[in-house]
Amino acid sequence: MSSGIKVFAPATVSNVACGFDVLGYALHKPGDEITVRFKDTKGLVIKEIRGAKGKLPYDIHKNTASVAALSLLKHLGEEERGIEMTIHKKMPFGSGLGSSAASAVAGAFAVHKLLKSPLSKRDLLPFILDGEVLASGSRHSDNVAPSLLGGMILCRTATEVYRLPTPKGLYTTVVYPHIEVLTKEARAILKPEVPLKNAIAQSANIAGLITGFYNSDFDLIKSCLEDHLIEHQRAPLIKGFYKVKEAALKEGVLGCSISGAGPSIFAISANSLIAENAGVAMQRVFNDLKIENDLFISEINSEGAILL
Ligand code: HSE
Repeated sequence: MSSGIKVFAPATVSNVACGFDVLGYALHKPGDEITVRFKDTKGLVIKEIRGAKGKLPYDIHKNTASVAALSLLKHLGEEERGIEMTIHKKMPFGSGLGSSAASAVAGAFAVHKLLKSPLSKRDLLPFILDGEVLASGSRHSDNVAPSLLGGMILCRTATEVYRLPTPKGLYTTVVYPHIEVLTKEARAILKPEVPLKNAIAQSANIAGLITGFYNSDFDLIKSCLEDHLIEHQRAPLIKGFYKVKEAALKEGVLGCSISGAGPSIFAISANSLIAENAGVAMQRVFNDLKIENDLFISEINSEGAILL
């Protein structure tokens, strides 16, 4: 029996207000860990799943981590390879922090490292997406790409992704209220059509936000971190959302919106002090509503998935 390797794939904030399905960035924590090792018998198996409270399947065709790993193994012609996987689920489901994406990234990345595959990290995206689609019902990369590659990522298509520069000092605050919002459901409620004026405002904001990142222009970033398409449709799924947003904005954050499909709420700040003050203010709102919550504050994680 080989000794095996362990990898980590981080949580992510997707959409970033105005970039529905096209923008996302990685956090330092939480994240998922996966251990893989060779075994003597043929084929991939999930040996153990820790931290998932029995909610994740052991069937390798139904688990996002193993589906992503299998897809990569098929591509490499190594489908028969004897590999056992242990999943250490270290982040909540339905949190809006890319939980299924982190598992899919960790699954494929772990096998890639174990087999010393010649592919680049970026080449792994199509296989990881095979895992992500199982959980979210849609082939979008705004969680998987930043979890894999780190940084602030623009996804022009699911597999054509670009790393954007971000200004020094940029901090993010994320509050996860313990309310479950399933991505599939939060996508199903979205209207298929949007008013033209909203589409124009959204395009202007995403273009402005990217320009702001390139020029380290905090004023421009601040005026562009506003979502005209999705936020108002999903806000009713998160009790207290507008109060939390108001509390964060009062502390001077550059912007605040729903992380991914929710219920987590993120804010972006120009420094760590504002990020911390915003965190306290955001948590206070949920505490007053008697909604349990967790706080994560960090710079943007520029590494993405790593070997531990
Ligand atoms: N962009 C996606 C959404 C992220 O908001 O539905 C969740 O997977």
